[in-house]
Amino acid sequence: DNVTIVTHPLVQHKLTLMRDAERSTKGFRQLLNEIGMLLCYEVTRDLPVEMVEIRTPLQAMMAPRISGKKLVFAPILRAGVGFLDGMLDLVPSARVAHIGLYRDPETLKAVEYYFKAPVDIDDRLTIVMDPMLATANSAIAAIDLLKKRGAREVRFVCLLAAPEGVAKLRGAHPDVSIWTAAVDERLNDHGYIVPGLGDAGDRMFG
Ligand code: PRP
Repeated sequence: DNVTIVTHPLVQHKLTLMRDAERSTKGFRQLLNEIGMLLCYEVTRDLPVEMVEIRTPLQAMMAPRISGKKLVFAPILRAGVGFLDGMLDLVPSARVAHIGLYRDPETLKAVEYYFKAPVDIDDRLTIVMDPMLATANSAIAAIDLLKKRGAREVRFVCLLAAPEGVAKLRGAHPDVSIWTAAVDERLNDHGYIVPGLGDAGDRMFG
């Protein structure tokens, strides 16, 4: 199974605070940032390490260091940016790809307005981030663009997903594993996740 639900109590607690309709913009933004850090911890859990020789002030020793692929963080604008600072706090040397997509409110199709990715993306592990996986149109379009640009190993991190979106993303990109804090009941007629938390981009940026 390529879907991981992050059940850590800190993540679940913070998600509950974010769902609350009374939560302020400031609080929402701060919580998303904090959860971004915790989800980053989970999505990087299996990165390979190698033993290297270092010297402490007392003696030489072999110690583990992350080996293999470097990371690219790829937030889907706008809401995905809410995860970015928290993730960069944990992996300060990661590169960043910006993917501008908005969802047409009528057709629910993802419309591209910006795309800028690092040149060496083919050599890196790419972590796509967006708080919401609703119809999955945005996630699929983002991963299409990244793969077209050369990305070969891709993971997707979100806060909330609809079962419909999970199924559709897995169908379109079966090689892309998904990390989420929760899978909610369903999508409503307007393509919103219910019970959900509303429109993440609006709640964070207005
Ligand atoms: C929202 C959300 C996701 C997307 C999810 O973005 O932030 O990017 O919709 O929906 P999907 O899975 O059905 O594609 P929106 O278009 O509202 O843009 P914004 O983040 O700039 O507010």
